[in-house]
Amino acid sequence: DGELRIWDGPQEEVHSPLRLKTSNGLNTKLIGQFPLMSEEAALAVLQAALNAYDSGRGLWPTLSVQKRIEHVQDFAYRMKEKRSEVINLLMWEICKSYADSAKEFDRTLDYIASTIDALKDLDRRCSRFEIEEGVIGQIRRAPLGVVLCMGPSNYPLNETFTTLIPALIMGNTAILKMPRPGTLLNRPLLEAFQKAFPPGVVNSVYGAGREVTPPIMSSGEINAIAFIGSSKAADRIERLHPQPHRLRTILALEAKNPAIVLPHANLDVAVKECILGTLSYNGQRCTALKILFIHRQIADQFLEKFKAAVSELKMGMPWEEGVKLTPIAEPGKPQYLTDLVEDAKQHGAEVINEAGGTVNETFFFPAVLYPVNEKMRVYSEEQFGPVVPIIPFDDINTPIEYIVNSNYGQQVSIFGEHIDAIAQLIDPLVNQVCRVNINSQCQRGPDTFPFTGRKDSAEGTLSVSDALRSFSIRTLVATKDIEQNKT
Ligand code: G3H
Repeated sequence: DGELRIWDGPQEEVHSPLRLKTSNGLNTKLIGQFPLMSEEAALAVLQAALNAYDSGRGLWPTLSVQKRIEHVQDFAYRMKEKRSEVINLLMWEICKSYADSAKEFDRTLDYIASTIDALKDLDRRCSRFEIEEGVIGQIRRAPLGVVLCMGPSNYPLNETFTTLIPALIMGNTAILKMPRPGTLLNRPLLEAFQKAFPPGVVNSVYGAGREVTPPIMSSGEINAIAFIGSSKAADRIERLHPQPHRLRTILALEAKNPAIVLPHANLDVAVKECILGTLSYNGQRCTALKILFIHRQIADQFLEKFKAAVSELKMGMPWEEGVKLTPIAEPGKPQYLTDLVEDAKQHGAEVINEAGGTVNETFFFPAVLYPVNEKMRVYSEEQFGPVVPIIPFDDINTPIEYIVNSNYGQQVSIFGEHIDAIAQLIDPLVNQVCRVNINSQCQRGPDTFPFTGRKDSAEGTLSVSDALRSFSIRTLVATKDIEQNKT
């Protein structure tokens, strides 16, 4: 009940970033509203989560694992009924294509099912064992307390749930702060949360992050924060906690994943994967390929094929059949991307594809920049959009040095057909990044794989079993044989 009453407070209207052609020109559409919570309301949300946890004595943290699983399954069942509503909101609120929005929804349900399976497996491994003669041990996984889950606006459903679901299943209570844009997604799911979980287990906080996050974090009552977004924002939020040593942080942050295309690469495969890697969802994925290193011997051929492939990508509204490039939801982003392109041009790069960098309302046609060098902002800044910087190289140490010196360390893609040449790169690269992809783009999925990064790219690991570990603590029950103790 608490959740729905919140919607009666002061509201912020959300207009879709999609511009619709009408007889009066281009119009925006009002797609919903959300409450602008005050500091006081945010603290009330925190209190609800604390009450439900009750210092580990509440109903939820003391419920059996099997019962918690049943609640989560009930939630998943109710969520399934909201599929078309959620997909619709993903299209209208964050401009994701229908195909990608449906994929985001479906993989989230799969993720919930895999988390439950992984928990059963984790549970089996908590069986009893002999610590030493006469002493039996049992490892129990216990909750951390109240978890603040903050997801990103490019995957508001899926990535928020990759933290929320394991946090809940391990017995924590949660405060959910949806991203902006992406806030409205929560609305069709509110009823499912209310019906599937006891009061206070899932609590949503709405409004401007700078208003509602500081009171919650500075209370010192949050035990874990799961944040997916920029490293600067993560630092700011973490520092609000008065005792950072009491805060567990699970962070998935920025990345500047490179592709290395070797002279013996199959160029059709490399181009296909680099197109997916750089431009899926307009390049707005933390796992996107954000810089391409192409061996000079094959650079001309690669560029020709790459330009041709870009020109074939259909740009349009999210619901249009076969659409690959959609409007950019974030206000100001087209201007930011234009500035990056201008800066690269001033430092000697060219936009090599026809119409590259053209802005039309919220559409931004991909700009392929060549040759890029270290003086350009796009060399090191995470563009998070449809700008593709390409660097020719002669010496393999050029991309390796780039990776070693980068502030990020998430993934890399290598394209080539000579196994020995690729094998030589793997050892140096696994010490720099957390996933090496051979002849494929960078990506998070399947969601059961560990997902993390080094340096400014992540802290802690998401996936399925890793996430269950991230949101719990291992405790040992050691039972000494009483008879043996007497002697
Ligand atoms: O934005 C970061 C996401 O974790 C990317 O996920 O590789 O499945 O698109 P994805």
